Amino acid sequence: MSVYKEIKRVTTHTLSEMKLKGEKIAMLTSYDYSMAKLVDQAGIDIILVGDSASNVMAGNETTLPITLDQMIYHGKSVVRAVTRALVVVDMPFGTYQGNSLEALNSAIKIMKVTHADAVKVEGGKEIIESVERILSAGIPVMGHLGLMPQSINKYGTYVVRAREEVEAKKLIEDAILLEAAGCFAIVLEKIPAELGTKVAKALKIPVIGIGAGGGCDGQVLVIHDMLGITQTFSPRFLRRYLNLAEEIQGAVNQYVQDVKSKDFPNEREQY
Ligand code: KIV
Repeated sequence: MSVYKEIKRVTTHTLSEMKLKGEKIAMLTSYDYSMAKLVDQAGIDIILVGDSASNVMAGNETTLPITLDQMIYHGKSVVRAVTRALVVVDMPFGTYQGNSLEALNSAIKIMKVTHADAVKVEGGKEIIESVERILSAGIPVMGHLGLMPQSINKYGTYVVRAREEVEAKKLIEDAILLEAAGCFAIVLEKIPAELGTKVAKALKIPVIGIGAGGGCDGQVLVIHDMLGITQTFSPRFLRRYLNLAEEIQGAVNQYVQDVKSKDFPNEREQY
């Protein structure tokens, strides 16, 4: 029987069972209570409180400006809404790369205040001490390799990563390192599909892709992108399930017209 149908609450154990059974894992971002409630009730396995909140919620160009307290605010709002999905909160830029004690303290604060299930960090070998220290406190960690938006100033571009052999080799080594350290899953962003499949096959833990091909154990998208709220972001890997921007603008435009024409409120819409 499908693991998906049996479960009341998704745990890290559920996810490894899903990988074992070959059942794909569906993950989406959410940043607020109302959206998280809808997403959870629709049967998502993992909700990521992504630091993409910096872009889609706050309007920043990159994920770098978002703070630990802001991520905690979003995390708390999402956790309050969720009854089934596993909730992962992104550790923001500057809260875990410096030293492992700072990383541990940041992760503990996230877990204590938000009541989320896990944290996510970007990087491999360079941050492995931080990953190990967070894990030593019993906090589940999700890794993130490939395109790492927190390192955008180093790359200078959002193009596909690890096309070259040297970078692909390092990515595989980092993935193996993160698994050996005890991460429960890894996100791979914007890399060749062949490499995504190779990593998913090499690891026992689930590998969740965003632009990393169908060979990954699961997929993740930013909710604003897949619902068509964001309009200018159109990478090849993005499938839009709705054109919510058009729907929302149409509804708002109608409301403006109704107010101005005195059609709203009508007799039944007042006391
Ligand atoms: O912050 C985020 O939304 C992410 C996803 C793109 C995986 O890290």
